[in-house]
Amino acid sequence: IAQGDAEKGKAKSVACGACHGADGNSLISMNPKLAGQHTNYLVKQLNDFKLASQTGGKEGRNNAVMNGMAAALSEQDILDISAYFSSQTGTDGETPEDAVELGSKLYSGGDLERGITACIACHGPRGNGTSLSGFPDISGQHADYIKSQLKAFRSGDRANSLNGMMGDIAKKMTDEDIEILSNYVAGL
Ligand code: HEM
Ligand code: HEM
Repeated sequence: IAQGDAEKGKAKSVACGACHGADGNSLISMNPKLAGQHTNYLVKQLNDFKLASQTGGKEGRNNAVMNGMAAALSEQDILDISAYFSSQTGTDGETPEDAVELGSKLYSGGDLERGITACIACHGPRGNGTSLSGFPDISGQHADYIKSQLKAFRSGDRANSLNGMMGDIAKKMTDEDIEILSNYVAGL
């Protein structure tokens, strides 16, 4: 399997830094932090954006800005840039007081009655996910970005998770669940 070169990736990622931060710690809450994210998750997302650009948004992950950015990258660029951002250290976030109790309950226990699978099963107790199985690190991510993704999974605008895992779960969430979980995860 081809390997990424983080040093080369750093040089190739200059354009990304404008939105995601030079070290992948974006300061804009709608732009995801990429620092410390699992390499293979980043590679998959970039390939998914590229696929959307090639299929008019019908397949992959459709985002007006990112489709174009990813379309311009070669396979090697994607590996190098992903290796670079993954090698950086992600900054921490905070969970607001009022989201701690309900957030941890839903995150760790899910909701059996409503069929919401506990997030902890795939994203882990600290939100770090696991590299090999493709579960992203969601710890310390911007709450606004997480909220936008849970809503996109719920509406089906984002349908790129393996076997529709996230869509199935998000479809059972209320706006309030999404609000609480997003604020909670930001501080993990
Ligand atoms: C999402 C990489 C340039 C704005 C993402 C994601 C990746 C990524 C991997 C998904 C992250 C995740 O799922 O957690 C890159 C790379 C770039 C680049 C490698 C340079 C080649 C940019 C630029 C902008 C931007 C220049 C702003 C103009 C965004 C936004 C999202 C995103 C808004 C979230 C999309 C959504 O809501 O689905 N980017 N990015 N990115 N990026 Fe970039
Ligand atoms: C992706 C949150 C439960 C599997 C994501 C993302 C968020 C999230 C915010 C997008 C990350 C990003 O864009 O950077 C949650 C929450 C959960 C939950 C709050 C509990 C309510 C689960 C469970 C599974 C799972 C139980 C496994 C069965 C995945 C996978 C992805 C993902 C595979 C990556 C999708 C892709 O490849 O694009 N999750 N998740 N999640 N989640 Fe979850």
